[in-house]
Amino acid sequence: MSSPYLHIDGVRKVYNDVVATDNVDLTIEQGELVTFLGPSGSGKSTTLYILAGFQDPTRGDIRIRGKSILSIPPHKRQIGMVFQRYTLFPHLSVGENIAFPLRVRRMNQSEIAERVTRALALVRLTGLEDRMPAKLSGGQQQRVALARALVYDPPVLLMDEPLSALDKKLREEIQVEIRRIHQETGVTILYVTHDQDEALRLSDRIAIFNRGRIEQVGTGPELYENPATHFVADFIGDSTFLAGEIAELANGKVSLRFSDGTQLSPVRLHGDGRRGGTAELLLRPERVDLAAEPGGTGASLPVTVEDAAFLGNAMLVSVRTGWGQQIVIRIGFGHPLSGRIKRGDAMHVRWNPETASAFAKG
Ligand SMILES: Nc1ncnc2c1ncn2[C@@H]1O[C@H](COP(=O)(O)OP(=O)(O)OP(=O)(O)O)[C@@H](O)[C@H]1O
Ligand SMILES: [Mg+2]
Repeated sequence: MSSPYLHIDGVRKVYNDVVATDNVDLTIEQGELVTFLGPSGSGKSTTLYILAGFQDPTRGDIRIRGKSILSIPPHKRQIGMVFQRYTLFPHLSVGENIAFPLRVRRMNQSEIAERVTRALALVRLTGLEDRMPAKLSGGQQQRVALARALVYDPPVLLMDEPLSALDKKLREEIQVEIRRIHQETGVTILYVTHDQDEALRLSDRIAIFNRGRIEQVGTGPELYENPATHFVADFIGDSTFLAGEIAELANGKVSLRFSDGTQLSPVRLHGDGRRGGTAELLLRPERVDLAAEPGGTGASLPVTVEDAAFLGNAMLVSVRTGWGQQIVIRIGFGHPLSGRIKRGDAMHVRWNPETASAFAKG
């Protein structure tokens, strides 16, 4: 079997008594753009720092093409890095900032000049090489940082929330640039963010971090369609969870019963459940339907309409179940009930039992 390009192999990092990462395992193909997405403190930066060589793992290994890089010092790892805050040298011009990694590598003057010109063009800052960093906007500063990280053609680029200090419009603009640069250079990128939209926009694959572990890895659509855990289902996309009692459990499927006595037809269960225990049914706003009739499949619940709002191309309808839980449903413009739903209506929320899933609760 051929070894993967980059292998983060069972990496654990303990600081005194804090477990920052616990058995992080991930393989990355050459030229992939993988984002680490997760809440604050979930171990994303720690994993990047271990890749860069700024931290040593307590256990585990980092391999490139099957060979451990742990004994290689950071400046010899050929890994570029862009951080959250601007880290330009304030006393050096844009051109000199970008040239810095080349001077450290003792490249000759004409090659330095040529590469700096190319890197400036890559981040679309041609003509600004003599500016000082203080005279640049935030977005321009991050472009310079990106050019400096890429100027010596590292095969791997690490980016730790590089856009989080920028406003939304600028962030989206530079996201497009990062995708373009990724395609033009073929560099393998590991990108940390806690912004779901940013991860979905940028990534080939997303690794969802939670409490120092990777909960699931996949493309955006895979994670959205097929979340393996409650945490992932909650983190990616909009979701409503309906907690019910496990009335039946067979062949990996559960029937849930709710406190108003309604029992549903079986859906796939994630995690370990037992009869009498609790599981939560996941409903996505655009995957459920609203109808006057129950539908007869057992995959529906009687509800009362609380509010219906027009969004232009859709309606957002808020309903309440018999036991008082709110569910939000998105209804397209062509829907037979569109424009005819009003507060107080008795309706049924319906879904497809084949694609629905539930998550066992601890
Ligand atoms: N140098 C350190 N010394 C002690 N604990 C640390 C150190 N660095 C990180 N930690 C702890 O390790 C855990 C993971 O931190 P990490 O910085 O990797 O999280 P993160 O996912 O990058 O979070 P954020 O989104 O806030 O940047 C946290 O509990 C943090 O407090
Ligand atoms: Mg971090």
